[in-house]
Amino acid sequence: DFLAGGGMLCLLNGLLALSRRRPVERFLPASLFLLGGGLFWEGLTPLYLPRSVGDPWDVLAVWLGGAALLARAAADAGEDATWQGHLEAGNRQLETLNAQYEAAKNAEAEARRAYLAADGERVAGVWDALPPEYAGQPVEDWGEAVIIPAFCDLHIHAPQFPNRGVGYGLQLLDWLEGYTFPMEARYGDAGFAEKVWKAFLNRLWAGGTLRFSAFATVHSQAAWRLMELAEASGLRGLVGKVNMDRNSPDSLREDTGRSLADTEELICRAREELKHTAFILTPRFVPSTTERLMDGLGRLGEKYDLPVQSHLAENPSEVAWVRQLHPDVPGYAQVYERHGLLRRGRTIMAHCIYLSPEERALLKEREVTLAHCPASNADLASGIMPLRQYLAEGQRCCVASDVAGGHTAAMNRNAAAAVALSRLRWLDRREEPPLTLAEALWLITGGPGAFLGRVGAFEPGYAFDALVIRPVPGD
Ligand code: GUN
Ligand code: FE
Repeated sequence: DFLAGGGMLCLLNGLLALSRRRPVERFLPASLFLLGGGLFWEGLTPLYLPRSVGDPWDVLAVWLGGAALLARAAADAGEDATWQGHLEAGNRQLETLNAQYEAAKNAEAEARRAYLAADGERVAGVWDALPPEYAGQPVEDWGEAVIIPAFCDLHIHAPQFPNRGVGYGLQLLDWLEGYTFPMEARYGDAGFAEKVWKAFLNRLWAGGTLRFSAFATVHSQAAWRLMELAEASGLRGLVGKVNMDRNSPDSLREDTGRSLADTEELICRAREELKHTAFILTPRFVPSTTERLMDGLGRLGEKYDLPVQSHLAENPSEVAWVRQLHPDVPGYAQVYERHGLLRRGRTIMAHCIYLSPEERALLKEREVTLAHCPASNADLASGIMPLRQYLAEGQRCCVASDVAGGHTAAMNRNAAAAVALSRLRWLDRREEPPLTLAEALWLITGGPGAFLGRVGAFEPGYAFDALVIRPVPGD
């Protein structure tokens, strides 16, 4: 019997959803199909329960099916609720934040036993003694805990989350073909996207990353859903639908006009409907975007005054490929510039390992934020960014995770990786002093915060995003 079968499968689905076992999604289409088919077949009569007592299986099926769907909805709601609980309860990762603890201890700006006051969502100030105007206000004593600005991650690929740690026997271009593109092709499936987006946002919460700039995929619907969920999560984020219309697999390659139209639609929708999540233009990188597409995106950037994110000079084979594709342009960065994609003070370029002096001058002039992704650069054997030189010449810099080029979204670990790589680089270049922990901490807080606005430091008027880090006794 269709209805009985559908009802039972729905129930099984609901129970599995509640117990959070894996095969949930596989049962859902079959059970909904059977239940729906049964209702159609039997002319909806079982819904009129008193009249259908002649067939108790039908009645049971409808009730079971309904209960199962409610159970499933409850399980989904439970997943959403974990966002709010993460910083309170689930945050085991931050308890191992020894590197940042050291950094905070060393930092010049450290204030011991100080008062930090918030005025609504903004920092009011940090003082050794409580100013008289705060007398009588509630004060919470955090004891031995260290309080630092929350982390920001300005370069992360949400759809690559399931690929963390996978494929690092390869280098960039083979890794993209072999692992990244096949994974990103799956986001035409809304159910899959939903699951990954929730896991992604929960992980950011759990790691203390309260602000981010993320790549989605080419799929408009999935990108929009990520924006909606980001808005609901309480985090603050920039999200971009990826654009790619050349040198890409059939499963991801877009029609140029369509890519631009979809992008503009998302830009407008995000402006109308969202408050804390905004759109960021996201051409994947030069090899996968035609000049017509880059031009169109540059125009959208002007029209809506948008930020831009992309990749630049990550790997020698990639750089050689760009030279081959654009022999008439002096360098990789100049290709973006030519198409209006180095928007002054509004652009994030990830990696920036292999740059000419002219490209460096151009990026500085355009006030581009250079996102150093140390875990990714090590995992994919891409190279080591000359971060010390960039800092010395006054470039805007931050450290980012580049999941899943990098294996972890935990920004404390990415900061530690930045220090580690800088120390290895120093072995061959003694004139470039390695990064200190205090600098690394700044590169995951104040550095990226400068791109986002008044964020990433306990300065008056800055957003009050704070992490309270308790030392673990005996650890
Ligand atoms: N270059 C173009 N696409 C990607 C990507 O997804 N990850 C990394 N690390 N580099 C890229
Ligand atoms: Fe990346």
